[in-house]
Amino acid sequence: MAALLLRFFLTLCALRVAAYTPLSDKTLRNLPGAGGDFDIKTGSILAPILIPRVPGTPGSLAVQEHFVDWFSTNLPKWNVEFQNSTSTTPATGERHVPFANIIITRDPPWTKPGDVGRLALVAHYDSKLTPVGFIGATDSAAPCAMIMHAARSVDEALSKKWDAMQAEGSIGLDEEKGVQILFLDGEEAFLSWTDSDSLYGARSLAEQWDSTPHAAMSTYHTALSSITLFLLLDLLGTSKPHVPSYFQTTHWAYQNLAGIESRLRSLGITQSTSDGNFLPETDKSVFHNSWGVQDDHIPFMARGVEVLHVIPTPFPHVWHTMADDGEHLDIPTVEDWAKIVTAFVGEWMDLEGYFPEPPKHARRDQDRKTEL
Ligand SMILES: *[C@@H]1O[C@H](CO)[C@@H](O)[C@H](O)[C@H]1NC(C)=O
Ligand SMILES: [Zn+2]
Repeated sequence: MAALLLRFFLTLCALRVAAYTPLSDKTLRNLPGAGGDFDIKTGSILAPILIPRVPGTPGSLAVQEHFVDWFSTNLPKWNVEFQNSTSTTPATGERHVPFANIIITRDPPWTKPGDVGRLALVAHYDSKLTPVGFIGATDSAAPCAMIMHAARSVDEALSKKWDAMQAEGSIGLDEEKGVQILFLDGEEAFLSWTDSDSLYGARSLAEQWDSTPHAAMSTYHTALSSITLFLLLDLLGTSKPHVPSYFQTTHWAYQNLAGIESRLRSLGITQSTSDGNFLPETDKSVFHNSWGVQDDHIPFMARGVEVLHVIPTPFPHVWHTMADDGEHLDIPTVEDWAKIVTAFVGEWMDLEGYFPEPPKHARRDQDRKTEL
């Protein structure tokens, strides 16, 4: 009984310290940039995504391979899975178009899937069928690249934190937290946006996950309810974005994200020139009950998942035109977003004190610069 009480007490303490912990100024300063990896022609992260990648085409397969290869080479501890479906579309007649969502997960090594609450970092990787040759650099090649960079930037800190927890025997006292990347397929309409001609991948994944239960006695009943926050990035990468806070229930998360942006700016770490913050609505108090901008969150939100939608209003001027290509990206803005997302993941996962120093990717970037 005493042991039980002690354990109960320890659990309470653990839950108290498990709160979202801000990163120190030093950690923010040491966060790695992506440097050459965001080069639109040669960058190992971004360049391979800047091709037409309509579902079911060779371009789509090439980008899928890029994700799989990049993670298995650079981040082998992240588990990569596919969730596939097919659907007819109003533009492709009887043909069943294949849609492939890519799910990349890093959980604490001692956990069972049903016991981990996950921060989901989400972007769609398909590109629009028309206009022919459309690249979709902001829509959403650059957001995919930001997420890859963020994953790489927290990878070592996650290992260190989890190793330390195992070494000191503090596992199992706290809520278990993981990170999950969802690269979704078939977000775009084939003809024009309707409920059935859009969100092909997201609708299939949300439905499947909602109806696939975890083992009995799991903390989370399904892979869907394991998502503690669905952080959706879209239409990011042009300069001076204005991203509102759309949802009251996740305004606290918006405030955390915006707080990180403000700190990066006041520390002089941001690279973009801006008249104001990307995330200016920290003080918003009146929210309209709505689904916000139609996007991949809809089928998840309809099933009760909490969503933070990072999408500018107004949309970028290049939206759904041939001008949404690599050349029209503002790379300093892409870098800033990547850093904001990285720091958010770091705070969410309580990684302060576990980041490597000095960051090895920054060193690599410097090496590359001296080579040039
Ligand atoms: C899903 O489809 C992709 C091709 O888009 C293929 O590489 C992969 O093996 C498939 N995975 C499953 C689990 O069916
Ligand atoms: Zn689009």
